[in-house]
Amino acid sequence: MTHSIALNFEDGVTRFVEARACETIADAAYRLGINVPLDCRDGACGTCKCRVESGEYDGGSYIDDALTEEEAASGLALACQARPKSDLVVAVQAASAACKTRPQAFETVLRGVERLSATSLAFTLERPAGLAFLPGQYVNLRVPGTDQRRSYSFSSAPGAATLSFLVRDIPGGRMSGWLGTAQPGAQMEFTGPAGSFYLREVGRPLLFLAGGTGLAPFLSMLGRLAATGTGGHPLHLVYGVTNDADLVGVAELGAFAARIPGFTYSTCVATEASAHPRKGYVTAHLEPRHLNGGDVDVYLCGPPPMVDAVRGWLAAQGVTPASFHYEKFSPSGPADAARLAA
Ligand code: FES
Repeated sequence: MTHSIALNFEDGVTRFVEARACETIADAAYRLGINVPLDCRDGACGTCKCRVESGEYDGGSYIDDALTEEEAASGLALACQARPKSDLVVAVQAASAACKTRPQAFETVLRGVERLSATSLAFTLERPAGLAFLPGQYVNLRVPGTDQRRSYSFSSAPGAATLSFLVRDIPGGRMSGWLGTAQPGAQMEFTGPAGSFYLREVGRPLLFLAGGTGLAPFLSMLGRLAATGTGGHPLHLVYGVTNDADLVGVAELGAFAARIPGFTYSTCVATEASAHPRKGYVTAHLEPRHLNGGDVDVYLCGPPPMVDAVRGWLAAQGVTPASFHYEKFSPSGPADAARLAA
């Protein structure tokens, strides 16, 4: 029996490897030419220390100098010793280039483009063979006919048959302009997956905060949670946009609320001119119960001012969430500057 291991490198690159029965994380990686940090290979030096973010594993044998009891209890493991007992997500303490790997490149085909509103588009791609990703991650897509790249988070769940994305329709925007006239069957290419903004194992209540097309990664996460459940933990999402026309994907949220026990959501529109019943920013629509006294995992994806505002608001509440994962994005920025994952 094999287990999938998602290796997440410090620079945001993710590579997936399949571990054979009884194979260590390091052996599975090296078999694919991914040279994760190693020295003694014997559980003695600690060079291969990594963080297992989700999944079950046998930690193997090692000396305390290589990995202390406290480190092991906090989720650290030795890649030369640890053997997966389920699929794993592993944070490697090195950049991808240092491990002689890089983002994978894929070629694909445009399935279709859908106009969701005056300001938003969705597009769908064929799923290339061999692609795996974590819910919340993104890819860097080349704008056809140019050398420009744009990064977009998957809005589809990892197991979906096709790949979906949300795009803000920016006047003069390279990708949204191309999508405006693109025909199904057009060739596209991307590299990825990438990003450290992905759903971790659910161990406490969750709070999702989405701004604009920052909803996309949450739709992917909700797709995963619709399949796995939340382990009985409540999950609340607040989705804020600037103008009424920016509010898309609400029907999908309603469908997820019907499928995921404990999932609730609310929407809000910032502009005063809105006809929406809830106006203002997402922080105006949070209640103390959503923060659960700090025993909550917070995920936030939105434009930089929103991320900064939420961080400031949490500090003002005197609440430090158990974990806080965020991703800033700029809808028109180049790929490298567009994602600043925490
Ligand atoms: Fe030395 Fe793993 S390489 S402990």
